[in-house]
Amino acid sequence: MQRKRFVLVMASALGALSCGGTSPARAGIAPEDARVAAAVSALRGIFAEAALADAAGPDTAGAIEAAIRAAPDRFFELVAAAAAESAAEGGLLAIVDKASALPPDYEPGDLVSLNDYPLAATRKDLRIRKAVAEAALRMDAAARADGVRLQFASAYRSYEYQDGLFKRYAASYGEEEASRFSARPGKSQHQLGTAFDFAPIDDGFAETKAGAWTKDNAARFGFSMSYPEGMEPITGYVWESWHFRYVTRAGAALEREYFGGVQRYMLEFLAAYGKAAP
Ligand code: DAL
Ligand code: ZN
Repeated sequence: MQRKRFVLVMASALGALSCGGTSPARAGIAPEDARVAAAVSALRGIFAEAALADAAGPDTAGAIEAAIRAAPDRFFELVAAAAAESAAEGGLLAIVDKASALPPDYEPGDLVSLNDYPLAATRKDLRIRKAVAEAALRMDAAARADGVRLQFASAYRSYEYQDGLFKRYAASYGEEEASRFSARPGKSQHQLGTAFDFAPIDDGFAETKAGAWTKDNAARFGFSMSYPEGMEPITGYVWESWHFRYVTRAGAALEREYFGGVQRYMLEFLAAYGKAAP
């Protein structure tokens, strides 16, 4: 629908020019920015999905669209920077959620061990993607400078590991309840190798200095809280104050400045706009 309208607008603009008519620019009207039209079309496409539209509420797509139109250059600069880093690092921005699974044999090719980094971890041999480890190092240094100690408790998890985890939770709580706080195998951001859990992995984390600090500062280092409080209808999961996904620094700024701080909206947009995969 949107694409058709866009083609029609362009055709009539071209027709006006070739017939010697007054161009929009000459008439003092800014010509439609093709980048904005394509971005808005992608945006409206994702919010045309009934499930997301219902969860997000009626004003969400309009608010994002207004933000893009208010500062388009900054928007496209951030999209390009996030996409470039994602592509250079073998794809960091893929959607992994209840609707989009990774293959069972997917394992990132650039995992490094936190044993080789001066970071505090609750267990040996936590692994994460290299770009994420480097960003964690920068974030950890800033936290220490502010008198805050971060403890890394979980990082990359294989499909098999996640399968065992989910089965254990399902045995204790039932599948439906377990799926509110644990991803099924293939559907965890941990398998993508871009997510960390900080200790303690419980709601008490939000009350700690580390919890308050990461909430306020993680975005400066490219990290985003995937499952914020009160967002279960949108994210699919209950609040996890301790779970942060690396989305690149530009991506984190994009999420905050244009997508209301909601990671899912930004990732869905980048996929629809063709910028999530390398
Ligand atoms: N706890 C999150 C949703 C996961 O299992 O990946
Ligand atoms: Zn997690």
